[in-house]
Amino acid sequence: MFEKQIGEIRNITDIVPKTAVILGSGLGGFAKCVEVKAEINYSDITDMPVSTAPKHEGKFVFGEIDGKSVVLMNGRVHLYEGYTAQQTAMPIRILRLLGVENLILTNAAGGINKSFNVGDFMMISDHISAFVPSPLIGPNDDAFGERFPEMTEAYSKELQKKAKSVAIKSGIELKQGVYAQLTGPQYETPAEIKMLSTLGTDAVGMSTVTEAIAAVHCKMKVCGISLITNLACGVLDTPLPPGHIESTANKVAPDFERLIKEIIKAI
Ligand code: HPA
Repeated sequence: MFEKQIGEIRNITDIVPKTAVILGSGLGGFAKCVEVKAEINYSDITDMPVSTAPKHEGKFVFGEIDGKSVVLMNGRVHLYEGYTAQQTAMPIRILRLLGVENLILTNAAGGINKSFNVGDFMMISDHISAFVPSPLIGPNDDAFGERFPEMTEAYSKELQKKAKSVAIKSGIELKQGVYAQLTGPQYETPAEIKMLSTLGTDAVGMSTVTEAIAAVHCKMKVCGISLITNLACGVLDTPLPPGHIESTANKVAPDFERLIKEIIKAI
C-alpha cells in the first residue's frame, strides 16, 4: 500500500526520520525550529488529503532539530473538512512507511477539567474515541497491524515519562489528562461538555484520536500534547472569545517550541 506515494516522497528526500510531529491549529510556527532539508506539499502526493483548515499549511517538512532528523506535518486534516477517518489515517501510515517510529501529536483543545487554565499544556494520558468513527473500519491491512489492536497504552508510557521529565527540567508546567475527539466543526454545547466531564474527559478537540489509533495500529509510539486555548463551552458563563486559538498559541509559542524540541531530543 502507498508505494506510489512513498516513491513520490523518496524522489525528493531520502531522509529517514525516526520522529514525526503533527502541528495542530495555531501551532504551525514550530516549523521555524527546524533546519529544513526538504518540503513536500500534500497536494503533490497522489490521493493525499489536503488541509483546508485555516493556518494549516498542508506540507511535510523534513529536517533536523539539534542534529536529530524529524519530519513535521505542518497542518493536518480533520473529519469536519469532509475527510473520512480512514483518510486521516493515510498520512500516519505514510510516516510509518518512511521509517517513523515515534509520533508527537499536538492540538488546540478546550479545557474541561476545572483545574485547567487557558495557556496550559496537557499531556494526553488517554483518549475517548467513542464520538468519532474508527480509522480502522474496513478491510484490515495486515502489513500495517492486526485486526483488533490493543489500546491499553495508546499513549506510550515511555514517551509520557520522557515528556514529563523534560518539562520539569525546562520549567514548563505540563498537566495531564484524557482527551476526547468530537467531529466538529461546531463547538460543543454546555450539555455536551457536562456529559464529557461526567465521562472523565479533561480536554476536548476535533482531531488527534483517529491519528493516534492509526499510529498504534501500525506500532508507533505516540505522545500527545494539547494546548488549552480556551475553557470549553459552558465551563464559563461567557461565549468563547473570538480568535482564542491564535491568540493563546501566539502567547505560549516560546514554551511550546521549547517543550516539543526537548521531547524530540529526549526520544
Ligand atoms: N472544543 C473543540 N475543539 C477545540 C476547542 C474546544 O473548546 N478549543 C480548541 N479546539
